[in-house]
Amino acid sequence: MFQKKLSQLKSQDRFRSLILPMGIDLTSNDYLGMSNHPQLKKFAIDALEKGLDIGAAGSRLLRGHTNAHKSLEYFANQHFKSEKTLYFSSGFQANYAIFTTLPERKDIILYDALIHASVRDGLLASNAKGFKFPHNDLNALESLLKHHGNNARTIWIAVESIYSMDGDYAPLSDIYDLCKKFDAYLIIDEAHATGIFGNNGKGLAWDLIKKDGYDRIITLHTCGKAIGVAGGLICASKNTIDYMINTARPFIYSTAPLPLQAILVEKSLEILSSPDGDKRRKKLFSICKEAKSLLGGNGTHILPIILGEDKKALRISTKLQNQGFDIRAIRPPTVPEGSSRLRLSLSSNLDLKILRNFVSYFNSIKNN
Ligand SMILES: Cc1ncc(COP(=O)(O)O)c(C=O)c1O
Repeated sequence: MFQKKLSQLKSQDRFRSLILPMGIDLTSNDYLGMSNHPQLKKFAIDALEKGLDIGAAGSRLLRGHTNAHKSLEYFANQHFKSEKTLYFSSGFQANYAIFTTLPERKDIILYDALIHASVRDGLLASNAKGFKFPHNDLNALESLLKHHGNNARTIWIAVESIYSMDGDYAPLSDIYDLCKKFDAYLIIDEAHATGIFGNNGKGLAWDLIKKDGYDRIITLHTCGKAIGVAGGLICASKNTIDYMINTARPFIYSTAPLPLQAILVEKSLEILSSPDGDKRRKKLFSICKEAKSLLGGNGTHILPIILGEDKKALRISTKLQNQGFDIRAIRPPTVPEGSSRLRLSLSSNLDLKILRNFVSYFNSIKNN
């Protein structure tokens, strides 16, 4: 079974296998080095020594709701100024819950062509109709709004605030203006912005939220990237979250996240709001600046090095790995056909000298 499909993947250079971390991390999403923060480790040990249970042992509605979850959601409400927040085991699960629960039959979802797979899968399973617009194309979005807006019960627009494979920003403020004009709701995936951008890492939607709140906006803050732990926090109006608690199947029919996970996310958000967080962001931004001067790109912590062919991306990534740089080839379907690439992921833990060595070695082999 599957032999033919696996052979096909191999012949197309699309076969993946699991590789353990090796060498210098230029791949993970641990942008602020929080996943090995000594205070978080100590906090975890202390919590367990004080008798914290490992598993939540039930779904949130059936005894799996603990003080750890309650405390994190309360903290996140204050932090992100949301009316209510809901914590999931992963960002994927949270996105899937949003898109399978909130948009209904007769609704439409307009989504950016480069939106994450978790949104795509959610909207494929939703009863609403989805329409894709070309990446960051405001004119195309407005055309869709004009064309389909009148017939829709509710219009939802789905974007990432910074795109996971290209590291470029969404024009959030312009998109939000269109939402107001066409009475649409905006769902913003802040996966790669949380912890880094906005006041104390509150995300790129922060300015919009500060002004208008969550009446028209829902945000997703994933917790396994710059926050360094795991999970996804949905911030929204009270009614939206109450509705999800009552009807979102991925929330209702799944065991609650580990209490320890919730405790550590709260602690990490606290650290990221302190001078320690500022120091990490400052260091990351200086690395981004240097990387942009060496390699171009958008100046963010996600720097795509587009190589085109899968074979080339694989060949160059293997050479870099053999030299001790842990960078992986990203191929379709994760990125569009013909745009296979190396995704250079920058972290505040990265030494500038190592970055320069990487670029110099990459330049020496990129045409071989
Ligand atoms: C834009 C975006 N949204 C959602 C997710 C899913 O988050 P998680 O890894 O917490 O499941 C990811 C992670 O890859 C992502 O890049």
